[in-house]
Amino acid sequence: MILEEHVDHILIDRERIQARVAELAAEISHDYAGVEVLLVCVLKGAVMFLADLSRQLAIPHAIDFMAISSYGASTESSGIVRILMDLETSIVGRHVLVVEDIIDSGRTLDYITRNLSTRSPASLKICTLLDKKERRVLPIPVDYVGFEIPDEFVIGYGLDFVELYRNLPFIGVLKPEFYE
Ligand code: PRP
Repeated sequence: MILEEHVDHILIDRERIQARVAELAAEISHDYAGVEVLLVCVLKGAVMFLADLSRQLAIPHAIDFMAISSYGASTESSGIVRILMDLETSIVGRHVLVVEDIIDSGRTLDYITRNLSTRSPASLKICTLLDKKERRVLPIPVDYVGFEIPDEFVIGYGLDFVELYRNLPFIGVLKPEFYE
């Protein structure tokens, strides 16, 4: 199966992603100069972004992971959010930056930020590669955004449809025949 053939068109190519990740990393490195950050990667979609962002940061940082369920195997958010896997480390008194691949309805990050806030971090900010602003149901104060994108079904660079396409190095729009 050649996954590229399932892509209707490329929305953001590899070069634009890498250039924007470098810009975000420079901004974050500047903003957090002098403090140690904990990057909290929201599995699984944010893995590629986390890996590239981490390697571009010029500041000391730790990484940890959380797994949240919100979509199931559908293309529409169910509105049901639950923790599948929690952080390994305590965040008390730490500067936490949540790293996401995409914000859609905002339900996942609303849940995560409310949950992490109760654990007494020194600070809590959000960095997302993609923002589908027009789909927002709950308001989310986002600190770092890679790209605002239209309401299309995107896959690649960590984003999946039924667990496939995460490995594509670009953000693409899936042909409707593959998800309808
Ligand atoms: C996606 C994405 C966000 C969430 C955004 O995760 O990674 O976590 O949905 O949607 P929302 O703003 O409507 O809550 P998904 O549940 O598809 O899991 P995955 O990252 O493992 O693919």
